[in-house]
Amino acid sequence: MTFAEINKRYSELAQESCCLSCGKAIDYSIPQPGEVCLDLGSGRGNDVLKISEYVGVEGFVYGIDISDGMLEKARITADKLGVKNVKFIKSELEKIPIEDGSVDLVISNCTINHSLNKQQVWKEIFRVLKPTGRFIISDIYSTQPVPERYSSDSQAVAECWGGAVTQNEYFAQVKDAGFKQIEILEESTPYSKGEIEVVSFTLKGTKKKSCC
Ligand SMILES: C[S@@+](CC[C@H](N)C(=O)[O-])C[C@H]1O[C@@H](n2cnc3c(N)ncnc32)[C@H](O)[C@@H]1O
Repeated sequence: MTFAEINKRYSELAQESCCLSCGKAIDYSIPQPGEVCLDLGSGRGNDVLKISEYVGVEGFVYGIDISDGMLEKARITADKLGVKNVKFIKSELEKIPIEDGSVDLVISNCTINHSLNKQQVWKEIFRVLKPTGRFIISDIYSTQPVPERYSSDSQAVAECWGGAVTQNEYFAQVKDAGFKQIEILEESTPYSKGEIEVVSFTLKGTKKKSCC
């Protein structure tokens, strides 16, 4: 799925009220006052705005998205609410325009499955996090490898299932990026999506391995 296709599909969905999430990353994230946070695939901006309340004026929240429609919707809502400690940036997840080691918390909901280069996304998450940083990410994995006819079908990827990888592949990518400690916080039972079976889950990871 190209960035132009993602932009088009999600710009059309920006004004709808349909739920685009696949887990409760925001509920597990517990941002602290003063923290710098980053939402990958921030969509209409709802999670960024919620986090902005937790981090307060001393903190800051970035939302990254490739869809013009989503970014516009998010910026308008932030302006209407007078929220100042947020910034919505147009960017691909594979090349995040944020400095190395500058973020305390990365969250994301139902977005990484769209990426054609998930390993690169995970490397970027590792790069932008501070040495003490953490991620809380909701996404899906497939219970079986997804046949190539679906993983290369941009419509199937757009519908949040064609781009799924198995749990083993998912975890291998997270670990290859450098994360030492990962933990599943919630997991659905397998369910049918499109032509395959998937599981929605929320994953937590820290850059630094806790000692005890
Ligand atoms: C399923 S929606 C989820 C939106 C939001 N996280 C939520 O839970 O409502 C996925 C979002 O990720 C964005 N997106 C998908 N792939 C992307 C990529 N490679 N780079 C940047 N944004 C991407 C889309 O534009 C869309 O807004």
